[in-house]
Amino acid sequence: MSIELMHLLGLDGRNVDVEVRISTELAPAVPPDWLPLADDDRARLAAFRREGDARRFLTARLLIAEHLRFAGVPLSEVRLLRRVDTAGEWKPVLRSTGSWQLPSVSLSHSDSWVVAAFAHGAEVGVDVEAHAAFDPLDRAMLSHAFTPREMLTVHSPRDAADLFTCKEAALKAIGFGFAIDPLALELDGYRVHRFDSSEARALALSPLTVPGAASAAVALC
Ligand SMILES: CC(C)(COP(=O)(O)OP(=O)(O)OC[C@H]1O[C@@H](n2cnc3c(N)ncnc32)[C@H](O)[C@@H]1OP(=O)(O)O)[C@@H](O)C(=O)NCCC(=O)NCCS
Repeated sequence: MSIELMHLLGLDGRNVDVEVRISTELAPAVPPDWLPLADDDRARLAAFRREGDARRFLTARLLIAEHLRFAGVPLSEVRLLRRVDTAGEWKPVLRSTGSWQLPSVSLSHSDSWVVAAFAHGAEVGVDVEAHAAFDPLDRAMLSHAFTPREMLTVHSPRDAADLFTCKEAALKAIGFGFAIDPLALELDGYRVHRFDSSEARALALSPLTVPGAASAAVALC
């Protein structure tokens, strides 16, 4: 069901191991008995109106469970938690009731693609988008996410998906998602210029190879 990749990104002169798990098949909409879910996740699952949304949501949790099992961490001792406040939704975190050293985690889903990324010692962000989501190209819409210089590099739905996933992965690593204006970041290849704060932490970015007509990227912060 999933492909495992290891990526090593340079961040401030040091290397950080990033594990990425990718699924191109969606799990059933009902969670298996053995999968522990936080109360918040149970409530979210029950609220989905579309079966596909529930399946993408659960597939992402199953990728996390696979990661934890592989790392030898008991599933019963870990929950994926998120904080929602007046500012919006914050980056989810893995929390242990024991003394496990857990990685930062990031999730993304689009159509039948679901991706989870894990990193120790850095905040990770991941994004996947089906190329079909950008077809036909809507340049007016894209200009809300891409700077004029970035727009010059977009000629096809695939170009748009490549750029969008890089940007969203970076925004997720920072932890604010689109609560930060995407125009506050500009990508020059895989170099990221940040205009949001002069004291902003460095970002490292890498594309991911996913099967089929989709783009994906992972970022560290
Ligand atoms: C985060 C966000 C970019 C996701 O975009 P999307 O294209 O709809 O969805 P994706 O499938 O790529 O990613 C969804 C995942 O992002 C993660 N996520 C949610 N909020 C996040 C945040 N602030 N930072 C990083 N990741 C976040 C969740 O794990 C979510 O998966 P889940 O719903 O299965 O738990 C978008 O929902 C967003 O910008 N939300 C607003 C964030 C906000 O209000 N922040 C203010 C407080 S910091």
